[in-house]
Amino acid sequence: MGNNYSHQLDNILRTVGSVADQNNMETYVIGGYVRDLILKIPSKDMDFVVAGSGIELAEKVGERLRCKREVVVFKNYGTAMLKYRNVELEFVGARKESYNRNSRKPIVENGTIKDDQLRRDFTINALAISLNDKSFGELTDPFDGLKDLRDKIIRTPLDPDITFSDDPLRMMRAIRFACRLNFNIAPDTEKAISRNRERIKIVSMERVIDEINKFMVLDKPSRGWLLMQKTGLLDMVLPQLSKLKGVEIKEGCGHKDNFYHTLQVLDNVASSSDKIWLRWAALFHDIAKPNVKKFINGTWTFHSHEFIGAKMIPSLFKNLKLPLGEPMKYVQKLVGMHHRAIPISNKEITDSAVRRLMYDAGDDLDDLLLLCEADITSKIEEKRIRFLNNYQIVREKIKQLEQKDFLRTWQPPIDGNYIMKVFDLQPCKLVGQIKDCIKNAILDGVIENSFEAAEKLMFEEGKKYGLTAVKQ
Ligand code: CTP
Repeated sequence: MGNNYSHQLDNILRTVGSVADQNNMETYVIGGYVRDLILKIPSKDMDFVVAGSGIELAEKVGERLRCKREVVVFKNYGTAMLKYRNVELEFVGARKESYNRNSRKPIVENGTIKDDQLRRDFTINALAISLNDKSFGELTDPFDGLKDLRDKIIRTPLDPDITFSDDPLRMMRAIRFACRLNFNIAPDTEKAISRNRERIKIVSMERVIDEINKFMVLDKPSRGWLLMQKTGLLDMVLPQLSKLKGVEIKEGCGHKDNFYHTLQVLDNVASSSDKIWLRWAALFHDIAKPNVKKFINGTWTFHSHEFIGAKMIPSLFKNLKLPLGEPMKYVQKLVGMHHRAIPISNKEITDSAVRRLMYDAGDDLDDLLLLCEADITSKIEEKRIRFLNNYQIVREKIKQLEQKDFLRTWQPPIDGNYIMKVFDLQPCKLVGQIKDCIKNAILDGVIENSFEAAEKLMFEEGKKYGLTAVKQ
């Protein structure tokens, strides 16, 4: 046992180790915490495995940390949890698991630490560090998890067909970890995902989407969807996206592969925005293309795919158990409008067309423009630059119109009546002069657009003309 991590371990782990020693319990920290410690990724969750009762150790640790009342016991699962200073500690007794074919619920028996490591999903998640004093900090790594961490490999400790059939959610976890850590899935593990893909059906869609959203927030979410497609999981979870794949050629004329195009658009929006629902809108922007595809007069057309796509969004959201409120409406709106800006950007731009786009897109205008720009994936540099430039012109036009419309309705914060009242004046040229001076100072950015700043300038101007205030 050459690897010792004692110098890197948190004080909480020393405390758990000391309580375990007092009670003669062989105890390890295991799983994600160990993986992330070795990868130098901060982690707030600690999972402990005990040769004995996890619940008993949790209660004893709770006593030592003076937070016994915080211990939550899950008797049915034989686990207990405790939150201490923002860290979640989870305790489980070492166990063997066997599974029934139709459920993710295991039949659990007591086991050794090695049995417990063997029941875990991946070798990199099966690493354990001893917390007992005599071996504190020593790594227990029966399946070469450390080597896989170094080689950046996701591999199951058992035969992958057993690991995935036992708990099919692990197929999605493999993809999520590969994306998050930038690892590769070992070829035999990946093949087993393909073979077991149908088993994903026994997992609730909520859990699947949870995993998907964990890779959707990353810098390059396309990687997760590519792996789902490669392993066949995409056909099980989101066949509509699968259908975008492929190129049809007629009379020597092909169209682009809309699957790879979609993933490129997704990565493009991910590079300019963190908004998760903008990413989903990118994923769905061309979803209806296979439904409306036609070959007319020697070219491929996808007429109205944006409207049909928008109509598909509620059922897609429902099947995927995505939230049906605001997020769905937002995605539906962006999918439905993603072609609206194209004619505006290609033609001589009229104020009214831009105003209508601004009105219809409302608060989502910026996101819509990001999606439209992300949608430009042409490999021809000249074309891409020209299209992007056109959007720059649309953006400038929007800015001009915003300013113009602002000026049309804007009124300075102080009017002539107020000036007359303060200085006890009848209507005269001087009132207009003071009013104009305030207006110009605001428009030129000399003073800010507020009543206080305007009133201060009014007094200064009044003084120049020998006026004294009768009302303040
Ligand atoms: N585990 C498993 N199979 C699952 C879920 C979890 O074998 N379907 C095991 C793994 O050993 C994992 C540990 O339980 O490391 C804890 O699970 P979880 O907290 O979900 O994942 P972490 O690995 O801690 O990763 P993260 O918190 O980053 O999601």
